[in-house]
This record gives sequence, structure tokens and C-alpha cells, in this order.
Amino acid sequence: MASVAALLLALFFSISASGNAQPKVPAIYVFGDSTADVGNNNYLPGNNAKANFPHYGIDFPHSRPTGRFSNGFNGIDFLAGHMGFRRSPPPYLSLTNKTSHGILKGLRGVNFASAGSGILDSTGTTISMTKQIKYFATIRSRIAARLNTERTNDVLSKSIFLISSGSNDLSAFFRQNNAPNNTQKEQFYNTLIYNYKNHIEALYDLGARKFGIIDVAPIGCCPSSRVLHPLGDCIAVLNDLAVGANDAVKVMLSNLHATLKGMKYSLGSSHAVVSNIIADPGAAGYKEVQSACCGGGKLNAVSGCMPNATYCDNRKEYLFWDDGHPTQGASKKVGLAIYHGSLQYASPINFKQLVEDDG
Ligand SMILES: *[C@@H]1O[C@H](CO)[C@@H](O)[C@H](O)[C@H]1NC(C)=O
Ligand SMILES: *[C@@H]1O[C@H](CO)[C@@H](O)[C@H](O)[C@H]1NC(C)=O
Ligand SMILES: *[C@@H]1O[C@H](CO)[C@@H](O)[C@H](O)[C@H]1NC(C)=O
Repeated sequence: MASVAALLLALFFSISASGNAQPKVPAIYVFGDSTADVGNNNYLPGNNAKANFPHYGIDFPHSRPTGRFSNGFNGIDFLAGHMGFRRSPPPYLSLTNKTSHGILKGLRGVNFASAGSGILDSTGTTISMTKQIKYFATIRSRIAARLNTERTNDVLSKSIFLISSGSNDLSAFFRQNNAPNNTQKEQFYNTLIYNYKNHIEALYDLGARKFGIIDVAPIGCCPSSRVLHPLGDCIAVLNDLAVGANDAVKVMLSNLHATLKGMKYSLGSSHAVVSNIIADPGAAGYKEVQSACCGGGKLNAVSGCMPNATYCDNRKEYLFWDDGHPTQGASKKVGLAIYHGSLQYASPINFKQLVEDDG
């Protein structure tokens, strides 16, 4: 009896949480790094780039650490919410291939993102972007086996492909060269864009048409960057790299749009949202935009958000949850701006227009 009651309770909560929202697209497929991971890294060996322990998830339903690098939901969850889903689709590595269960879930979308990864396969040691796309190809063939090719192509062409990556590539480049000259920066952008373009073309070849790309935030202002500065200021070189890379991505997407038939995209700017919050914290309702809420040492950025770390109570007043990731509240702002916002926040169209474009 107890288990039946628990089941009914779980059902009730899942219905009430999802409300009456109807998904506006057939599925969402998510690629990227810790800004998008919802638990793939939980399935990897070792302790690298994981967030599946307290105090992560302290504001998630049931205070559950899920692998999200947040006190609650992340930006992908909020974007999925605007598209009529309850939250991000499940992590790829949580789906088993034994039963049709995993395939059914895959029909509504899958999240392949892996914290620590980048645009470049040489960045990080977790699930590279190339491997994430290979995993999508696996899902695609399973869907095609169920639906047939024509219907699969139709469904995928209406689905949204979200990509949130790049910060880790920039950080890795900065660690190797903390004072790059213009030639070195240009070379780096060229390599980055060459690879980013290849990834998008690979997804296009697998049937993706609608791309929602999220740019790189001003990572020089993360607590993990500020702690490198004697006065706790932002690290200008890292912020310059973010601006340069974002500009190059903008040009690349515009060029791809001109050459790939039927490709549609929106470039969402977490950079604009976070920059605005830092420029005028009070106007956005924040009291603390330098220190992490959870962590230890200077700016709470010296030791990580470990189970024995302290954390703030007023999480809604903090921009950063840990030394490198926004709070749930800040992610919600980013999701809202990218979905509904003006050209400053998403261009050439916003995510809502991308979702509704059926031309
Ligand atoms: C799932 O499928 C993949 C690729 O087809 C395979 O490599 C993997 O071993 C399978 N996993 C399980 C749990 O059966
Ligand atoms: C940039 O730095 C590299 C490595 O130090 C050097 O070889 C190159 O000449 C520099 N380029 C310019 C334009 O300063
Ligand atoms: C927390 O635990 C880590 C090891 O897991 C240790 O290095 C660190 O000193 C501890 N911090 C505190 C504040 O106890």
C-alpha cells in the first residue's frame, strides 16, 4: 500500500509541476558543458567535473543534487520550460537501451551535455562535443527504426538543438597563455570556429534544422577568475576572449545560415544578461555579484562547493552559486531574456521566434 501511495503522490507532483503546458516542439536535444549538463557526468568514472553531491541542488525539488551545476535548475531547464516542457530532457547516459522506455524518452529529447567539455575535443576529459554528437546519432537511428526515415526527418527538423559551450575552451587557452597577442587570439578563434562549424554541420547532416546557440558569459568576472586578481577585479583578458569568440560565432552562424538550406538559428546572449547584472546589480535585484554563494576562502572561490563548504541563505541575492556557475535565479533571468528578449539578448530572432517559425 505504501508504495502505491508513493506512486500516486509522485504522479500528482509530476502532473502539478507540469501544469497544462503543452510542448511547443517535438523534442529538445542539448549539447555543451556544465552550463547545460543535467547529470551525464554522474555516470563517468572518477570525481572529475561532478555536481551530484550537496549542496548542489539545494533548491531543486526535494533538495536533490542531480549533477546540475546550480543550487536548483539551470538555464536549459528554464528554456525547456518556456518551450512547454517541465525541465531539460534527461541525461543521455541515464537512458538504457534495453527497453523501449529509453527510446520513448528520447522522442521528447535528450541532454548530451557534459561538464568540462568544450567546442574543441582537446578541451577537458569528459564527453567531448564530437562524442555528444555521436551519441545523438545513436538516438537518431533508434528513432528512425521506430518511425521511419521520412517521419524522423520531419520530427527532427521541428525539434530544437540547443548548444551551450565555449567557456572551457577559453579558460584552457588562457591557462596556456595569459597575455595572448592579437595574432594568437585570431588563430585561436579560427580553430574554435572551424570546429564549432563542423559540429553544427554534423548535426545538420543528421537532420537538425533549428539551432538555439548560447554564447559565452563574461567569464573573467566569475569568482574563479576574480580570485586570480589581487583586488578581486574581473580578469580583462578572459572577458576579451569571450567577446572575441562570441563575435566570431555570430559571423559563423550568419554564414552557415546563408549556405545550409533550411537552417534556422537564434544566438542567445547570456553575455548580455550577466554583463547587465554586473553593471547594475541593484537594478536586477542582486546584492552580491562577486563572491560565490557556496565555497570557501576568498570570494568563496578558493575551495569548491564541496559537501563541507558553507553556503549563503539569501541565494536570490547572489549572481553566482559556485565559483563558476550562476544561481538558479540568474539562470532564470538568462532563460527569460533569451526566449522572449529583444535583439540585445537574442539575434537575429529570439528563441520564441525560432520555436514558432514553421516556414
Ligand atoms: C547501448 O548501446 C550502445 C551503442 O549501441 C552500446 O555501446 C552500449 O553498450 C549499450 N548499453 C547497454 C547498457 O546495453
Ligand atoms: C605574438 O606572439 C608570438 C609568440 O610570442 C610571436 O611569435 C609573434 O611574433 C607575436 N605576434 C605579434 C604580431 O606580436
Ligand atoms: C573539506 O573537505 C576537503 C576534502 O574533501 C578538504 O580538503 C577541506 O579542507 C575541507 N574544508 C573544510 C572547510 O573543512
